[in-house]
Amino acid sequence: MNNMVASVPSSVVARPRVVVDAHQRKRSGVRIRRAAAASSATSPAPAPTPISPDAVERTASIPYKDGSIDKTVYINDAAREAIEKANAGRFVSIIDPSSPKLAKLLSVIDDGWDAIGVKNKNAGHHTLWPEAFEAGKALLEEAFPEECSPEFGGEVLNGVAFVNEPKYYNRAIDFMQRRTKEDFIMSKYNPLGRLHRDPDAIDYKSPGWMEAGMEASDEYSYRYYNVWLLRSPRDPTGQAWDKPLVVLLPRNGGAKEWTYDVRRPEDNVEDDSKKTTGSQLMSTLEKIKANPMSAAPMVMQAFSTKKKEDKFEAQDANYMTRGSPELQPSDEHVWITAPYMIFDSFDMWHGAGTWMPEDKRDLRNGAEDPIAARKNAIKGRVSIELRFRARCKPKSREGVPFSPVSAAYRGGVFKPETVRPSDGQYDLENGTIV
Ligand SMILES: [Fe+2]
Repeated sequence: MNNMVASVPSSVVARPRVVVDAHQRKRSGVRIRRAAAASSATSPAPAPTPISPDAVERTASIPYKDGSIDKTVYINDAAREAIEKANAGRFVSIIDPSSPKLAKLLSVIDDGWDAIGVKNKNAGHHTLWPEAFEAGKALLEEAFPEECSPEFGGEVLNGVAFVNEPKYYNRAIDFMQRRTKEDFIMSKYNPLGRLHRDPDAIDYKSPGWMEAGMEASDEYSYRYYNVWLLRSPRDPTGQAWDKPLVVLLPRNGGAKEWTYDVRRPEDNVEDDSKKTTGSQLMSTLEKIKANPMSAAPMVMQAFSTKKKEDKFEAQDANYMTRGSPELQPSDEHVWITAPYMIFDSFDMWHGAGTWMPEDKRDLRNGAEDPIAARKNAIKGRVSIELRFRARCKPKSREGVPFSPVSAAYRGGVFKPETVRPSDGQYDLENGTIV
């Protein structure tokens, strides 16, 4: 028997992953769960320490453009520390699970989940659910007083204002309920795992939405806050059992964009007018295999029987010209997650990560009630997001900066038909581009 080839575990071959910084990041005051894993290749690797419920950092597979990469994801106190260290306190706030304002919002959501949410196919305009937006606003005012609370010069506006034509309110996604796989048929929108920022996505936007949604931008700075709440049971570390919402902290406190490629439709799809449906499907499947992240627009193209100009009728008319920005991996990326948080979905990259299977297993087996834990773990993630705008007048108050998206808009590089430039730099004090 040839020992050289006999002992490669099939899982290693079947699911290659790139590890960039997982297990290797050292932070003062934060326990490194698997410090031993960074040892040199010549010494025998000690058995990894199993994850424990008090872990403050975990590893998740992050769905980058050219394949998933295992990254450290900070949770609980370490996530709060990371936010502070990244000067991201105006971008994201982790909601204390014991907050009475959160309890109020969760109970409003419980009450309306079926009667409002499910009835409207799990997504809709904020006017359908005023109680939920009222309860969400209270959390926003507390988390970001200078951006959101009238007492400090801030103001919350319900909804993202993508849709301002009442006849198309049914295309709005001011709230969105994410359900488990078996509920897909009920949803207008499936969970979007890929990394993105909200204005770049394909969702329908009314003509002139940007000007209307950010009116009086000569004096106002706008932020687009997403109140994100887990509704399925939490695992022993306090997080979603799987598919955690992972959020990337901003670069240089938001003064600089991360590096990304802009993928244009022609990179994904080619003229299909001469192809038969069968060969078209085969070629699409080949391409998806080579680059799984390109799947969504290609599948839409392959299965559509509409003429090209009709295909995005109910979606963003500029999506195809604008192209889709795809985040490039970087060792500098710092990821966080939480079961309840408010994050700026226009200025922070986000998506769904996947926890390491061995950690899920250890948490399940080590749970007080492993049978209940197993049930919870396999159910899948259920969550809801409520989307808001908030605005304030930075020039009237010292120390309050413009948001990056407002700086980009005011500087002329954020338009309906273009994406913000990769590595772009902003003067946040004056609210313009550098
Ligand atoms: Fe999003």
